Amino acid sequence: MRAVDLERAQRILERLPPRWGGWLYRRARRHPGVARHLDDRYAQLLAGLAGDLKPPGEPPVTARLPETGLDQAEVLARIAAARSPEEEHVLRGYASGAVYHGDPTHVDFLNQAYGLQSQSNPLHADLWPSTVRFEAEIVRMTAGMLNGAEAVGTVTSGGTESILLAMKAYRDQARAERGIKRPEMVIPTTAHAAFLKAAEYFQIKPRLIPVDHTFRADPAAAAAAITRNTIVVAGSAPSFAHGTIDPITELAEIARHRRAGMHVDACLGGFLLPWVERLGYEVPPFDFRVPGVTSMSADTHKYGYAAKGTSVVLYRDAELRRHQYFTAADWPGGLYASPTLAGSRPGGLSTACWAAMMSMGEAGYLDAASRIMGAAGAIRTGIAALPGLRVLGDPLWVISFTSDEIDIYRVNEEMTRRGWSLNGLQHPPAVHLAVTLRHAEPGVVGRFLDDLAAAVEAARRAGDDPERGTPLYGMATSFPIRAAIDDVLERYLDLLYDLPRAGE
Ligand SMILES: Cc1ncc(COP(=O)(O)O)c(C=O)c1O
Repeated sequence: MRAVDLERAQRILERLPPRWGGWLYRRARRHPGVARHLDDRYAQLLAGLAGDLKPPGEPPVTARLPETGLDQAEVLARIAAARSPEEEHVLRGYASGAVYHGDPTHVDFLNQAYGLQSQSNPLHADLWPSTVRFEAEIVRMTAGMLNGAEAVGTVTSGGTESILLAMKAYRDQARAERGIKRPEMVIPTTAHAAFLKAAEYFQIKPRLIPVDHTFRADPAAAAAAITRNTIVVAGSAPSFAHGTIDPITELAEIARHRRAGMHVDACLGGFLLPWVERLGYEVPPFDFRVPGVTSMSADTHKYGYAAKGTSVVLYRDAELRRHQYFTAADWPGGLYASPTLAGSRPGGLSTACWAAMMSMGEAGYLDAASRIMGAAGAIRTGIAALPGLRVLGDPLWVISFTSDEIDIYRVNEEMTRRGWSLNGLQHPPAVHLAVTLRHAEPGVVGRFLDDLAAAVEAARRAGDDPERGTPLYGMATSFPIRAAIDDVLERYLDLLYDLPRAGE
């Protein structure tokens, strides 16, 4: 097929209803000529990103083991050199979310706690009962904080694993107790992508319900979407994209009425909302106080201020937790039982998580919440006052904004030029900043708002200059064939592991 035909084909694809377009796209892609053309296109699109993904200073590629091991001091020096520009960037508050505490004294303390138990593995409960105990206490403390004194749970590797496991537990329980063979989950369009991952991994059909103009899930749509195959309804407290809390009470009531479970994704808010509420901010009911809530996820590695790699999944009912577990009674390797996705688990991370919670205490979490909310309030007010920008919904500390006048992705691009790493959003196009303790440090809010004002002006001046465009998000918002965007994203993942080969 000649290139000119392909251009025409693309125009036709763009005009078709997305579902047909997707089908045609997938068929056309099997043709080697089309595949080559698409590969070139996607490589061009990703060319800019490939540069950004290289570590600064471009150290030489290590492609094989050193013949003899390097001196440990040399290895540490290399790591330190690679890390220092990244660290500086995050510590000075240039990133959205990502590092939630970051104070060097706190981080050193976590590292010490990790170091004390870096060899431990809770899979071997007989060898390391201490880390098993730490995990049980993390679960108990988190459940208590979320008003689930009787709730049970497990420690997992992160928010995604907590959500995956909860969805698996609902699926297996529904199959065992209600004979449901074609399980469905009712989730708002704004629910975290981890729910879609769970749907794909565990063959659960996602039924997406819309959100209203304040970005809260529509309970009437949830009621309409529930079928007798619904195993769970989910809501966020708050959502990743817009930082708004879904109407948990209403959703949970609808779920309870239809004998479905209700999962509250408090990955982002579980360790902040209880304290924000105690500070007197208006927080709608979101935790185990709501009768129909049957499970929750809360990330210790976000606003719990632990090291990266831990989260908590909680269940109101111990029976449901059992459906999360995996056991193998006949395995020649012995009697095997594992509570989460991983086999061996990093006991050091659980120890550091326990250490974070114990050292912060209620007073520490309350103080952190107060500082974050102070910074978030100033940022929200500052953004709302900038001509051309509009804050979405009624957020607490994840502030998303858009523009009715300028391309918001260009504003994001201009912020990137100024050193910021904000999150691009879509449907509608927007950008957000998840405020952390890094932004509560002196001078950060002012620097953010000054840079944002300059970025808006620069984006206005740039107008339609294609040189200063945002190719990836541009394509994602304008090109209706989602399978094509998925292809680009897969190539992006390839890029992360593709190192230049000798001679390239
Ligand atoms: C609301 C929400 N849920 C789930 C997750 C997934 O968490 P993780 O990236 O730790 O897997 C996130 C991450 O930002 C989130 O904001």
